[in-house]
Amino acid sequence: MVETTTGDERDGRERIVIELAEVAAEVKGCPKCELARTRTNAVPGDGNPNARVMLIGEGPGYYEDRDGRPFVGNAGKFLNELLAKAGLSRDEVFVTNVVKCRPPGNRDPLPDEMAACAPYLERQIAAIDPEIIVTLGRFSMSRWFPGERISKIHGHAKRDGKRLIVPMYHPAAALHQAALRGAIEDDFAQLPKILAELEANREAATEASRPPDQQMTLF
Ligand code: URA
Ligand code: SF4
Repeated sequence: MVETTTGDERDGRERIVIELAEVAAEVKGCPKCELARTRTNAVPGDGNPNARVMLIGEGPGYYEDRDGRPFVGNAGKFLNELLAKAGLSRDEVFVTNVVKCRPPGNRDPLPDEMAACAPYLERQIAAIDPEIIVTLGRFSMSRWFPGERISKIHGHAKRDGKRLIVPMYHPAAALHQAALRGAIEDDFAQLPKILAELEANREAATEASRPPDQQMTLF
């Protein structure tokens, strides 16, 4: 298939890049919650603006706070391995967190901190408009699955409009617990199939939307 890029698509891509850069700049100077006072660097998130898959973790840890980039410590190395097994690289996905600044001592983010930070995540989701969102851990899961238990629903995709949300364990937890590690590996291994199905559905929908005299015939 020959990929063609129209002027409108190019403009759309530029708009996404600009919006993501605006969000990142605001995050870097954000004073909206207590975490601003203890962070070294805010961590807006990074990756491909045209990603089909977006992954949302909990919050920056020590190395992320030091470098200003998401998932660069041990959990990040494990995440890269999981992505590689799913045939994905960090360059083709977008990775961010529920809170963009490190909770001191890696404590859980507090409800008012998550609420203060949520508009940044919402703008990132709206700009990238990914086909799949993978939630990593229970804090990012709870936006789409309030009250659910991760042990029960991990790996079970749910539709949110045209998007699929796939809840998964947090790689930092799964790294050191054998049972969770097997589960997160299995859940990541499903991603290629889900992506292929979405692609097939999209192609079928495109074909069906063509005028009948331009449709490919199967006979
Ligand atoms: N854990 C997270 O939830 N996010 C990171 O960016 C790193 C570790
Ligand atoms: Fe702002 Fe979010 Fe950082 Fe709080 S965690 S200071 S809301 S960017």
